[in-house]
Amino acid sequence: MNRTVVHPAGPLRGRARVPGDKSISHRALLLGALAEGESRIEGPLLTGDGQATLHCLQALGVETALSVKDDSTPVLTVVGRGLRGFREPAVPLDCVRSATTMRLLAGVLSGQPFSSVLTGDPQLLRRPMRRVVEPLRRMGADITDTDGHAPLTIRGRPLQGCEHRLEVASAQVKSALLLAGLLADGPTVVQEPAPTRDHTERMLAAMGVDVRKEGEGIILHPPAQSLRPLSPTVPGDFSSAAFLIVASVLVPDSEVTICDVGLNPTRTGLLDVLRAMGASITVTDEHLLGGEPVGNITVRSSALWGTEVSGDLVVRMIDEFPILAVAATQARGRTVVRDAAELRVKETDRIATVVEELGKMGARIEPLPDGFVVAGPTPLRGAPVSSHGDHRLAMALFVAGLVASGPTVVENMECAADSFPDFVPTMERLMGGPR
Ligand code: S3P
Repeated sequence: MNRTVVHPAGPLRGRARVPGDKSISHRALLLGALAEGESRIEGPLLTGDGQATLHCLQALGVETALSVKDDSTPVLTVVGRGLRGFREPAVPLDCVRSATTMRLLAGVLSGQPFSSVLTGDPQLLRRPMRRVVEPLRRMGADITDTDGHAPLTIRGRPLQGCEHRLEVASAQVKSALLLAGLLADGPTVVQEPAPTRDHTERMLAAMGVDVRKEGEGIILHPPAQSLRPLSPTVPGDFSSAAFLIVASVLVPDSEVTICDVGLNPTRTGLLDVLRAMGASITVTDEHLLGGEPVGNITVRSSALWGTEVSGDLVVRMIDEFPILAVAATQARGRTVVRDAAELRVKETDRIATVVEELGKMGARIEPLPDGFVVAGPTPLRGAPVSSHGDHRLAMALFVAGLVASGPTVVENMECAADSFPDFVPTMERLMGGPR
C-alpha cells in the first residue's frame, strides 16, 4: 500500500481546475445511454467511480468512444440504446466502490426485460441497500438483496408508478426511483425529508421529460417518447474544490482561484458554513452551463471561528464533513455538527474514521451519535494516518498535513482517484512544485 508524505506548506497561489462533477458524470453517462441517439459529454469524471458506471454501461451493450481535447478535457460519446434497449449482461455488474452507480442502476435495471446482478468491492457491499430496494419493490421490482446489502439480483419486470415518502434524505435513492419511474406505467412521486441534489431532475427536464417540483415532492410522468440525447459540459466538482478551498483558507498568505466549479445550491452548503466561520471567499463569473450553475471561486487565507451545522444544511454539504472537521481544528471555539448520522454509512463511517485519524494528529474532536464536536484552535502534529480507503478522508488528511508541524504520512492516498485523480499534483502545483 502506498504512503504519501505531506510536509507543512507555504502559501498556495494561482488558478486551478478540478475534475468533472462525479454526481453529474454518473447521470450524464446513464441518461445518455437511455436516450435515443448520440450524446457528447464534455469533461466527465472517468476514473474511479465514473469509470465504474462506464464499465457497467459497456457490459449492458452501450457503445462509447473517448477523445481528448487540446486542453486535455476528456470528451465521451455515448450511443444511447433507448429506454429498454440494454443487452442482458453476461456477468455480474461490478460497481467497484461506487454506491451511486449501484443505486441508480438498480432503478434502471428493475424495469428492463432481463435479469442482472449488481456487486462491488467489500467497502460497497457493507453499505445499506434496503433504502433503495424497498421502494423499488413497491413499484413492482423483483430484487433479491443480501441481508439488506449487495449483491443485488434484479429480475426485470413491468413497473408501476407510485408515491414514495423517503425516510432518509438521499439523492441516490430519489434518483433511482425517478429512473425507475421513466419505465413505469404511471406517475412517480418522491417526497424527501430535506431537499437533496437535483442534478437528475435538471438533466431529465433538459431531455424532454415532464419532471417537476410539486410542494415538498418531485413528480415525474413517464415519457411517451424516447429521451432526447444531450451534449452537456460537466462542471468542476464542488466536492473536490472543497479541499482546495479549505487548504487555501488555512495555509497563511494563500490566494487561489478555482475555475468553472459547479455551484448548484443543493451542493454548496460548505461555502455558507465557511463564510459564517469568517472565511474570505468570493464567487465570480457565475453563469448557467448545461442547466447547472457554475462560476469561479477565489479564496484567501483567513482566521476562522467555530460554528454549528445541523438540519437541512447538512444535506447541502453531506460529502464535505471530513474537510470541515479539518477546518474546525484551526477555528477559534467549538464547532458542533448534528443531524449527520448519514455520515456513518458513507464510504467509511466518517464520524468514526475522521475522529480516529484527526485524533492521531492531536485534534480535540469527539464523536456524537449523529455528528462530532471539535474544540479549536489546535496545533496539529504530523503523524502516520490512514485513509481507510475513503477518498474524501484521504484528501482531508492531506490538507491537515499542510497545517501540521512535521511530516504526515497518509496511507493509501491513491483512493483519492475515486473522485479526484490529480489531487496531489494539483496541490503541489499550487504550492510551487513537487515537495
Ligand atoms: C450522491 C448523493 C449523496 C452523496 C454521494 C453522491 C449522488 O449520497 O453522498 O457522494 O450522486 O446522488 P446519498 O444519496 O447517499 O446521500
